[in-house]
Amino acid sequence: MRLTKLLLALFTAASCASAGALPWQRKTCVIPASGSNTTDDTPAIIHAFKRCGHRGKVIFKPTTYHVNSVMDIRWLEDVEIDLRGNLLWSTDIPYWLNNSLEVGYQNQSTAWILGGNNVRINGHGVGTLDGNGDYWYEWIREQPNTSNYPGRPIALTFNGLTNSVVRGVNFLRSQMW
Ligand SMILES: *[C@@H]1O[C@H](CO)[C@@H](O)[C@H](O)[C@H]1NC(C)=O
Ligand SMILES: *[C@@H]1O[C@H](CO)[C@@H](O)[C@H](O)[C@H]1NC(C)=O
Ligand SMILES: *[C@@H]1O[C@H](CO)[C@@H](O)[C@H](O)[C@H]1NC(C)=O
Ligand SMILES: *[C@@H]1O[C@H](CO)[C@@H](O)[C@H](O)[C@H]1NC(C)=O
Repeated sequence: MRLTKLLLALFTAASCASAGALPWQRKTCVIPASGSNTTDDTPAIIHAFKRCGHRGKVIFKPTTYHVNSVMDIRWLEDVEIDLRGNLLWSTDIPYWLNNSLEVGYQNQSTAWILGGNNVRINGHGVGTLDGNGDYWYEWIREQPNTSNYPGRPIALTFNGLTNSVVRGVNFLRSQMW
């Protein structure tokens, strides 16, 4: 009898606790933008993915982000990425040739690696990755070998991305493809 009462009390306490708990909210990071291509926005982008890349939400505002460095972001888990802005890659070709990340296939390289599980990227039809490719297209014409030039980066590579959805994102003027 006493045991039954105790169990009932425990059960009641447990259901009260879950009913009374605040709705679970995702940790949200809104990425600031410098607004100038002389200031690299990648430290702010990487910082946001470190803070909110696990069971969180990362928001790119409807503005231009200047991407002047490589990004290797592979630790994502259950994250929403809201991309209404424009990511514009820098025109510093010597930097990219030296620093692009290896893809591990056909000696190709990339400017941005994104990976993880249960990642939901939504560009809402307006979010854009702009590789500033015009600079690359002019430059490659002056090279002896215009094919598959070592170090010329692919804009974005999904590496180990599982159970994920990418939608509504525009790819513009990719550095290579
Ligand atoms: C910054 O923008 C100017 C004007 O569009 C351009 O000429 C320059 O190459 C850009 N610099 C970088 C590092 O992207
Ligand atoms: C690229 O690497 C070469 C060889 O290591 C170096 O001489 C050059 O200064 C580097 N350029 C840039 C823009 O980092
Ligand atoms: C261009 O260079 C790449 C890398 O060195 C090489 O794989 C490719 O065969 C070359 N293409 C031509 C047409 O020379
Ligand atoms: C592979 O890329 C590196 C630079 O990223 C380059 O030095 C090398 O020549 C390339 N190898 C081939 C076989 O194209």
